[in-house]
Parts: sequence; structure tokens; C-alpha cells
Amino acid sequence: MLSPLLIIFAALLLATLTWLKTRWQNQTFATAHGCLPAPRYQQPETILGVQNVVEAARAWKANTWLEMWYHRFTTIGPTFQASSLGRTTIFTIDPENVKAVLATKFKHFDLGPRRMKILGPLTGPGIFTNDGTSWEHSRSLVRPTFTKVQPDRRSGSVEADLQPLFFRLTLDSATELLLGRSFGSLLSPPGSNALRFMHAFDYAQCRIHVHGLRESPALRPFAWIQSLFAAKKKSKFDEACETVHRTLDGSLPSSSREEKEAPGGKEKYVFLHEIANETRDPLQLRHETLNLLLAGRDTTAALLSNTFFVLARRPDIWARLRSEIDQTFEGSIPDYDGLRTVKYIRNLLNESLRLYPVVPWNSRIATENTTLPHGGGPDGRSPVFVRAGQLVNYHLWSMHRMPEHFGPDSHVFNPDRWDDSTLRPGWACIPFNGGPPICVGQQYALTQAAYVVVRLVQQFESIECHDASTPWSEHVGLVTSSRTGTKVSLRPRNMPR
Ligand code: HEM
Ligand SMILES: *[C@@H]1O[C@H](CO)[C@@H](O)[C@H](O)[C@H]1NC(C)=O
Ligand SMILES: *[C@@H]1O[C@H](CO)[C@@H](O)[C@H](O)[C@H]1NC(C)=O
Ligand SMILES: *[C@@H]1O[C@H](CO)[C@@H](O)[C@H](O)[C@H]1NC(C)=O
Ligand SMILES: *[C@@H]1O[C@H](CO)[C@@H](O)[C@H](O)[C@H]1NC(C)=O
Repeated sequence: MLSPLLIIFAALLLATLTWLKTRWQNQTFATAHGCLPAPRYQQPETILGVQNVVEAARAWKANTWLEMWYHRFTTIGPTFQASSLGRTTIFTIDPENVKAVLATKFKHFDLGPRRMKILGPLTGPGIFTNDGTSWEHSRSLVRPTFTKVQPDRRSGSVEADLQPLFFRLTLDSATELLLGRSFGSLLSPPGSNALRFMHAFDYAQCRIHVHGLRESPALRPFAWIQSLFAAKKKSKFDEACETVHRTLDGSLPSSSREEKEAPGGKEKYVFLHEIANETRDPLQLRHETLNLLLAGRDTTAALLSNTFFVLARRPDIWARLRSEIDQTFEGSIPDYDGLRTVKYIRNLLNESLRLYPVVPWNSRIATENTTLPHGGGPDGRSPVFVRAGQLVNYHLWSMHRMPEHFGPDSHVFNPDRWDDSTLRPGWACIPFNGGPPICVGQQYALTQAAYVVVRLVQQFESIECHDASTPWSEHVGLVTSSRTGTKVSLRPRNMPR
């Protein structure tokens, strides 16, 4: 006869033995690799780590989430561990660790299923959500387009808040690049297909985290409760995804060969044409296209709105741009090669991406027991053990602000710092990520942003704002942009076009 007491005792014994075994395995691996523990974020309890989540949620609500992280890194150290909802995560802004995760130990880290679970309902699987061989395949499909493309030629228009205009502009240029035909949202009336698509795409994106919360390990056990209620009625999120899919499917040409020649005979690079040899499966075309739209549209718009937020407050930079741009282009429309010759524009965009990285943090999950080179021990110079399945978060926002990488004026917006030949940030400044998964659209985005800067400088005498004392504040979604938009007044020039 087994007494209940004995069963409880046996269970406890088994749990303890399992724990000891893991601990022993942990220690053997850590010792073999010279690892020491990284400092811990001081939490009242680390089993659930509730306080951590509450604090982060508060900061999020107060729009000080990025600053909260900066504060943690500067007080605890560049690499530390913290618990949230039962998981211990490693947080780092050490460039060597970031390099390990993205490049030297690339094979030891993955996106894991999380990104696909969160973004999947909107985009389906593709370059941005896949891991392993599926990712390699998507990457080889997508990359050729970006080694050849030149951005289109289109200019912005005058209005009070530039931010929503930039988001329309990049929707239009991205659809032109991906589908061969721009949605033309800048010029579309309310109620048009283009705007319906845009609103659905924006809505799905801003709800995607809430929707994705269901997939968080802490809440997953309760998902069935939600499904009892959700099954009956389609959510607004599902409807938005459907609108996106329907509109996009309607824009996929029945024959991807049409429209290969742009007017004037110059070949236009269109993503759909480039991959037509590889696949004509409508579902795959939709998924790869939406992956690119998601990766490329809001990012470029956020870069532009952050940059113009600063320009409206820095007449000195505007004046400098004006003199360089007038000298180089003499009022004519810039071309691809011309844009690359104005180093000051690149410095400006570099500085914008340094202080306002539009992807301010990122993460990977260890696929095997591995190590990060830095962060362990009292001096932080020893490697740190990362167990298979553990999450490593890296925070560009904080890393890009560290005086040890950018000098004592690291918080100052100064494009000229990029002229200093001793400034070699390497892995300390990676707004486009690095290693094998580096952004494929980097050149495209920088060229397009430079083009918009040049055209606006050519059109307008000055740019000002009415709230110069208001500092930039965060709006952290899938990308990070100015929460208060980019409200400016632009005074036209009297220059012949
Ligand atoms: C200022 C503009 C942009 C910034 C700051 C930016 C930043 C990034 C970052 C940080 C990643 C890495 C994501 C990760 O692996 O976790 C990434 C990946 C990617 N970006 Fe960009 N991006 C920009 C513009 C674009 C544009 C215009 C396109 C295409 C039209 C694009 C396409 C992609 C794609 C496809 C990936 C996934 C690459 C892969 O996983 O192999 N991006 N980008
Ligand atoms: C083993 O190491 C991981 C990663 O550092 C840690 O989260 C876990 O608590 C450790 N387990 C034991 C039993 O020491
Ligand atoms: C990683 O190490 C843990 C103990 O530290 C062990 O239980 C687990 O099997 C290892 N996982 C892999 C994928 O090697
Ligand atoms: C597609 O295939 C045709 C014929 O096989 C080839 O001539 C063409 O260059 C290919 N196009 C691309 C973009 O690979
Ligand atoms: C811009 O920054 C990157 C690193 O983020 C650097 O490699 C590049 O040289 C910089 N460009 C200019 C023009 O300073």
C-alpha cells in the first residue's frame, strides 16, 4: 500500500534530483567554458519575476520604456540577467556579445517560434519570420532584388505633420518596388482601396503584440478559455489581416512578366519579376511580399520622421544640408550616384539611426547550450553561460548611447561625429543588424531617405516647429518613432524647379 505521504515524498525527491542534475550539468558546462554568472537585476522574487513585468508595463505606459532600459544597463552593467514570468533572460549591450549572437555564433541562436507566432497571422512565413533552411531559402529569393534596385523618384508634399505622410510615401514606394505598381496612397481619397489597405495593415500591426500575447508562455495555458469566446466571432484583427491579404492578392499580377519594361526602356527592378523564376505559388508570393512590406515600410518612414523631428529643431543642420545640397545638385533632381556623394546626408542618417534606432531592441533564442564572451564575474570579463532555449535580448537604444563607444557627448545629436576617422563603432552601432541576417534593404532605405532629404531641402527654405522645447518621446511598436509625430511648418523657397 502506497501512502499519499510516500507519493509526495517520492515526487519531491525526484524533483530535487532533477534539479541537482541540471545544476550539475549547468556547472560542468559553465566551468568547461570558463563562465561566471552575470550580475542579476535585483528583484524581490525571481521565481515569477512579477515586479519586473509590472515595472516594464508602467514604463511602457509612461513612454519611458527605452529610458528604463538605459537606466538598467548603466546601473547594473552592460550584461545582466533578470527574471520575468518564470524565465531568466540575458540582457546585453556589449558589442562582443551582440556580435556572438548575430555572427560568430550565428548557428547557436534562432528567432525561435515567437516571431512567426506573433507576425504569422499578418504576413505568413517568409524571410522576416523564418529560421534555418527556410530562412536561407527566403533570403536567397529576396536578396537579388536589393542588389540591383534603385529607389523610385517621388517627392513629399507640404503639410503640418510629416509623419503620416512619410508612412504613406514608403507604402507607395514599397508597393512599387515589390509589386511593380504603387498603391498611390499619398494621392488617394478616403475610402479608396489604397487607404483601406493601409488602415488595415496599420491596425493589424499595432494590435499584433496584443494578439501575440496569447502566445506568451505564461498565458498559453489559458488560451483555451479565450478560444471559447473568440471562436464565435471574427476579431477586428482577423478582419484587418483578411483585408490586407485580399487587397494584396488582387495586386499580384496573373502573369508576373507584365510591365517588365518601365517607361523609357530603362529596366525597373520589381521584386515579383525577380522571383518569378523561383515561384508562382500565389500564397508564397503573398507571404514573401508581406514579409518585405513589414520589414521595409514602417522602418524607412520612422527613420524619416525621426530625422525631420530633429531637423525642425536644428536650423544649423538644415543650413549645412542646404549649402551641400545646393552645391552638389544645383537644384536638379538627384540620381542614385549623386546621392551617394553627399557624405553629410549619410552622416545625418547615421546619427539619426544611432540616437533613434527604429528597431531599438532585438532578441534571439539559444538553440543549444552555449556562451556569450562577456558579462560574467565581478569584472564582467568572463563568458556567460546561455542555456538552450534561453532568451538573449540586445538593446541598441542603450548601446548606441554609451560614452565608451561614442565619447562624452554621446547623447548629443552631432552628424559631424561620423567624420571623425577614429570613430569605429563596429558592433556598437548596428541599426540594420549585422551578420548573416543583416537588413537586405539597407542601401535601398538609405538611398530613399537621402532622396527625400534632398528634395525637401530643395523645396523649402526652412523647417520649424512650434514645440521646440518638447523632447523626442518614444512610440514603441514594431518600429520606434516619434510619439508626437513630426509636426513642422515648412516655408517654400523661390527657387526655379
Ligand atoms: C531605415 C530603414 C531600415 C532599418 C533601420 C532596418 C532595420 C532592420 C533590422 C534591425 C533588421 C534585423 C531584424 C532581425 O533579424 O531581427 C532588418 C531585417 C530586414 N530588413 Fe530592414 N530595415 C530598414 C529598411 C528596410 C527596407 C527598406 C527593406 C526592404 C524593402 C528591409 C527589409 C528587411 C528584411 C527582408 C529583413 C530580414 C532579413 C533577414 O532576416 O534575412 N528593411 N532590417
Ligand atoms: C541552469 O542554467 C540556466 C541558465 O543560466 C538557469 O536559468 C537555470 O536556473 C540553471 N538551473 C539550475 C538548476 O541551476
Ligand atoms: C543543455 O544543458 C542542460 C543542463 O544544463 C541539459 O539538461 C540539456 O539537455 C542541454 N541541452 C542541449 C540541447 O544540449
Ligand atoms: C529566369 O529564367 C530565364 C530563362 O530560364 C532567364 O533567361 C532569366 O535570366 C531568369 N531571370 C531571373 C531574374 O533569374
Ligand atoms: C555610418 O555608420 C556605419 C556603422 O553604423 C559606418 O560603418 C559607416 O561608415 C557610417 N557612414 C558614414 C558616412 O559615416
